[in-house]
Amino acid sequence: MCGIVAYIGPREAYPVLLKGLKRLEYRGYDSSGVALLNNGLKVYKKKGKVAELEESLVGKDLHAHAGIGHTRWATHGEPSDRNAHPHQSANGKLAMIHNGIIENYAQLKNELLKKGYSFKSDTDTEVLLNFIEDIQINNDCGLEEAVRIALKRVVGAYVIVLLDEDNPDTIIAARKGSPLVIGVGKGEHFLASDASPIIEYTKEVVYINDYELAIIKADELVLKNLGNEKITPFVQKLDMELAAIEKGGYDHFMLKEIFEQPDTIFDCLRGRLDIINNTITMAGVQNNIEQLKNANRIIIIACGTSWHAGLVAEYIIEELCRIPVEVEYASEFRYRNPVVHKGDVIIAISQSGETADTIVAIDKAKEQGAFIFGVVNVVGSSIARISHAGAYTHAGPEIGVASTKAFTAQLVVLTMIALKIAKEKNSINEERYAHLINELHNIPEKVKEVLLINDVVKNIAVKYKDATDALYLGRGYNFPIALEGALKLKEISYIHAEGYPAAEMKHGPIALVDENLPVVFVATKDIYHEKIISNVQEIKARKGKIIAVISSGDEIIPAMANDVMIVPEADEIVAPIISVIPLQLLSYYIGIAKGCDVDKPRNLAKSVTVE
Ligand code: G6P
Repeated sequence: MCGIVAYIGPREAYPVLLKGLKRLEYRGYDSSGVALLNNGLKVYKKKGKVAELEESLVGKDLHAHAGIGHTRWATHGEPSDRNAHPHQSANGKLAMIHNGIIENYAQLKNELLKKGYSFKSDTDTEVLLNFIEDIQINNDCGLEEAVRIALKRVVGAYVIVLLDEDNPDTIIAARKGSPLVIGVGKGEHFLASDASPIIEYTKEVVYINDYELAIIKADELVLKNLGNEKITPFVQKLDMELAAIEKGGYDHFMLKEIFEQPDTIFDCLRGRLDIINNTITMAGVQNNIEQLKNANRIIIIACGTSWHAGLVAEYIIEELCRIPVEVEYASEFRYRNPVVHKGDVIIAISQSGETADTIVAIDKAKEQGAFIFGVVNVVGSSIARISHAGAYTHAGPEIGVASTKAFTAQLVVLTMIALKIAKEKNSINEERYAHLINELHNIPEKVKEVLLINDVVKNIAVKYKDATDALYLGRGYNFPIALEGALKLKEISYIHAEGYPAAEMKHGPIALVDENLPVVFVATKDIYHEKIISNVQEIKARKGKIIAVISSGDEIIPAMANDVMIVPEADEIVAPIISVIPLQLLSYYIGIAKGCDVDKPRNLAKSVTVE
């Protein structure tokens, strides 16, 4: 949610910023801008995608060795040139970019208005910037001190990065609640919301913690807390390759990421699943096994697609471990008064590890004594760091806004966690345990097989591209997959879609069924198969258009359905990992057929770092 990038050093800053903004565009893309120190401060910004900013700057003198850039996802103020970042302070000397929300901005704005300040934008960012400028003038202090004083008054979440015309050799940055990575090069520094703009130049990075301030020169990085005490920067090595964040011949990141799934799932299993000895090695689970297997209750906290992974995990953990599980939206959990006890375990699921609601929900559960286990994709992210223990999903960088490979990796990790706990708890028999280990081992090959139906799905997509609504139905482990399929379609093609438990559709959604409504059944072979066949009949009797994900060998549903997407048979516990893939492809190809920007769907952002 908003991408920020900054550079200081001997290179030309603008090309570094531009490339960085393109890499961060998945975080927000309603407007963008850069500020450069080039004989004074120059600020350029534009409504629309980064390419539009780039076009508007052709022919301009953009020479500079220090600069900041921003791609925005609007919170305060509509997407427009004037609300785009960077913002400039009233006296024109400071420029600032911001990711987050300043909650008490109205109060600060009133104070500044009384002092005669006026504002060029509707943003909370400009308010904070002028607040900083005002402190600087009144206290006759440097920018660093003014930022420190200002941040003590600020309520909300932020990463801010500032340029000061009077101190062209220094960039100042601070963080609370939003992500910030600093790349440490030779005589140069890079700052960004995630490592993707940095990876090309250096693999040495420092993750900034909340309430820390960075004072950055080309050849010096000083970290301080808000009390002005120095902190030693902890330099880490990035474990990421440049190829991982490029499209590699695919038209879109989403398609690339869908097709990466055999590899990402393999990576997720690698070193963990041992089918010769029938073991699962996960240090985060093993080291905390008493806590996990004796949990009174497991509460899963997540948002969006990660929440759907949580719903699948609920079914799996209850079945295999016999521990009660609740699945909560982080945004609800954090604001109600949930009952959490010491013996409760929280599993927080997040691709980015930066979702604001999930972070605060974790803090809340932690305060009440719960043990926090993070299932996170981005290494070194906030959720990975605030969890007591965890397991990474190792899906690699996910750039497409609609989550695909991160979701299947989450399902794989959660299944392994459940299996490991069940084994330690003796709630699973040897035979079933060994069978499921084998099933997990076979998943990458089965996913490869599913991907062979790419062209079949593409043709189906063309038939349904003009639908205005769609219903997705599934039972048991496939019910959350129906929700996920519907979410993917909504996100990518803007077709209204709803996911429902197949039986529950009789309590409402069936009223929508007519000859124009596509109904997507997730109907792979499992214990509910006969029941779902009846549901297919019910839709057919009302002339709905039936599209079904079915297991190979199913001869009943093809006779009733308009279109089928056939996947290999699998145990019902691992079936969701396979059955979701045709639905990812379906939404992708419907989006493409409708001419939608599938990697950057309107109004969405990959990483929701505001509540
Ligand atoms: C946004 C993204 C989704 C994602 C959700 C949760 O809505 O567009 O793809 O599922 O946030 O994000 P997280 O990073 O916590 O999994």
